[in-house]
Amino acid sequence: MENIYIETYGCQMNFADSEVIAAILEKSGYTVCGSAEEADFILINTCAIRDNAEQRVRHRVRELKAMQNRRHNLRVGVLGCMAERLQSRLMAEEENVSFVCGPDAYRRLPEMLAQVRSGQKAAEVELSTTETYADIEPVRLAGNGISAYISIMRGCQNYCAYCVVPYTRGRERSRDSETIVREARTLFEQGYREVTLLGQNVNSYNAEIDFPELMARVAQIDPLLRVRFATSHPKDLSDKLLEVMAEYPNICRCIHLPVQSGSNRMLKLMNRKYTKEWYLDRVEAIRRHMPDCSITTDVIAGFSTETLEDHEATLELFRTVKYDYAYMFKYSLREGTYAWKHLADDIPEEEKTRRLNEIIALQGEIALENNKHEVGKEYEVLVEGESHRSKEQLYGRNSQNKVIVFDRKDAAPGTYRRVRVDSCTAATLIGVLVQ
Ligand code: SAH
Ligand code: SF4
Ligand code: F3S
Repeated sequence: MENIYIETYGCQMNFADSEVIAAILEKSGYTVCGSAEEADFILINTCAIRDNAEQRVRHRVRELKAMQNRRHNLRVGVLGCMAERLQSRLMAEEENVSFVCGPDAYRRLPEMLAQVRSGQKAAEVELSTTETYADIEPVRLAGNGISAYISIMRGCQNYCAYCVVPYTRGRERSRDSETIVREARTLFEQGYREVTLLGQNVNSYNAEIDFPELMARVAQIDPLLRVRFATSHPKDLSDKLLEVMAEYPNICRCIHLPVQSGSNRMLKLMNRKYTKEWYLDRVEAIRRHMPDCSITTDVIAGFSTETLEDHEATLELFRTVKYDYAYMFKYSLREGTYAWKHLADDIPEEEKTRRLNEIIALQGEIALENNKHEVGKEYEVLVEGESHRSKEQLYGRNSQNKVIVFDRKDAAPGTYRRVRVDSCTAATLIGVLVQ
């Protein structure tokens, strides 16, 4: 049968989706291969969150033309959020794309590929209010056999003013808890030691049980199974979740709590539904329940009408919270969003860049400062693999999700080892095995 190759861009949820896509197509007799060169079909699973994410995909699609000129039977399809956003417009604009498939239509891929093979083009972009792919056991692609993603819900209906996700992923829906727990247990039995439960706003998970209860059930599978989750919306981060986290040592001490801005005026305009004060109260609650919990965030520089005062409020918030890690972005206007309809994209590009760079520089100092405090501490590390620098070194992460590099000695990937931190950079901790 034919070979498919899946290339994935974007967030963890897209990576999880690619594993569902692989499962659906393998079941229909396709083989997932390891490189574009061997493929009969190349499926590009795309992201639409910022313009540069889309430009990268367009560049890749055009690059594949050369390969298609050499191999006439090679077909290229675009999947995921960009496919949903642009629909058949994308096939008109990029002539070498034969099919587009949105995030809720992956079950139709076998039919679509058959259609494409017979020389037609195909587009499936219908969104669903119920699809969760709950019954599909994902094919783990290019994983390390230690750590895996589990999608627990799909879609988002928070409608943050800047964000395209509600339009590309549709209404929020939760996957039933039994299939989630079963998937996690199977992974553990296969030797996996870490699962990350995924959703755009996991705190609003709402099936037969709520998110704290779901976390507890997954954590109960085995104390040796680490449980992580992403992403938490600050408006819905409950004390109940923090209590459950504190109760189970194998629920990791790390919360990703995207703030987006430190200015109440911006937060209101962004439709985030919380204030800076509410956010800081949640940070305090996290630290009260778990003093050793790391906190990470997302932030947007240069949203509509952002003043220097608003920007300064973001810097101030960063100084207060002292994040362990931050994903930092320049505002990118997305077609169809509330901001696109109603708010001016009025901060000049150079000014957005300047503000972003200021946040990046500050966060660099904070991360280094935080890491310096780690020197001398001992952590249980889940060993993941060889360090990129040297075969003599391994790396793993602690519960706080910080990467620690150490001399290999007798340690092996997939096991837990105690490591003492000896030194650090802003990005990495360097340690030694404690016998
Ligand atoms: N559901 C998650 C975020 C998913 S998107 C949440 O609400 O926290 C990941 C991040 O991309 C967002 O947190 C935001 O910081 C960023 N982002 C989203 N839309 C953006 C845009 N139009 N321009 C720049 N950054 C954006
Ligand atoms: Fe986008 Fe807001 Fe939904 Fe996150 S919560 S995916 S930022 S709309
Ligand atoms: Fe991108 Fe879609 Fe994820 S827009 S960030 S791939 S939900």
